[in-house]
Formats: sequence, structure tokens, C-alpha cells
Amino acid sequence: MKLKFALAVTALVSVVSSGAMAAGDPVRGKTLYATCGACHGVNGEGLEALNAPKLAGQEPWYLIRQLQNFKSGVRGTNPRDTYGMQMAPMAQTLVDDQAMEDVAAYIETLGG
Ligand code: HEC
Repeated sequence: MKLKFALAVTALVSVVSSGAMAAGDPVRGKTLYATCGACHGVNGEGLEALNAPKLAGQEPWYLIRQLQNFKSGVRGTNPRDTYGMQMAPMAQTLVDDQAMEDVAAYIETLGG
């Protein structure tokens, strides 16, 4: 009975940890964010004049997912999606998932 419980806990922990992203590095993310700040604001506050939404306060997993969507062309490829098309090439500058996690980790430090 005790063993069963231990196994269940182990299984649960591995499900939770595999679902979570590997930790991003906010220090590397800060360097990557230098480009982003031009549109999204240095504090991630967003800039309505450029239609660049606020990123500060957004969940890292959501940011990463959107960056993946832009990079893979799920978002920002329809010619009528003017603003999405401005963002899509920016996501291409993030070479891999680690870079996305790093930039999201930095954005998380900006608060909300
Ligand atoms: C040229 C200006 C510009 C730059 C530079 C830029 N973005 Fe964007 N970004 C936008 C615009 C405009 C949108 C809104 C797209 C839309 O309406 O679908 C956006 C959307 C996003 C979104 C989706 C937000 C949401 O709520 O769905 C994320 C995440 C994002 N940008 C992150 C970044 C990161 C990280 C960088 C730096 C690598 C970056 N952006 C650089 C203009 C820019």
C-alpha cells in the first residue's frame, strides 16, 4: 500500500515536470529581449502605436507557445494579418526553444 502510494507520487511528479518547460535563463533572455523592447517597450509594457501588446505579466508558457506559433507560421502568415506579419520575422530571430524560454524568463522578471 505504501509502495503504491510512492509510485503514484513519483508518476505524478514526472507528469508535472515533463509538462513544464526547462527553466529559461533570464540573463540570456535579457540580451535577446533587446530587439523586442523596440516594439513591446523596454519593460514589456506594450506600445499601442505599434500594435505591440503588453508582454509583462503574461504567463511564460503562453509567451513561449505564441513565439512557437509565430515561428512555425501558425500565426503571422496571412497577408491580411498586418500585425502578426510584423511579429513573425521577430520570432525567427529566436533560434530554438531554449531561446524562447530564456526570453520568456526575462519577461517574467519584468513583473506585470
Ligand atoms: C517590429 C515590432 C516588433 C518587434 C521588434 C517584436 N514584436 Fe512581438 N509583436 C509585435 C506585434 C505588432 C504583435 C501583435 C501581433 C498580432 O496582432 O497578432 C506582437 C505579438 C507578440 C506576442 C504575442 C502576444 C500575445 O498576447 O499573443 C509575443 C509573445 C511577442 N510579440 C513577443 C516578442 C518577442 C519575444 C520579441 C523579440 C524577440 C518581439 N515580440 C519583437 C511587434 C513586434
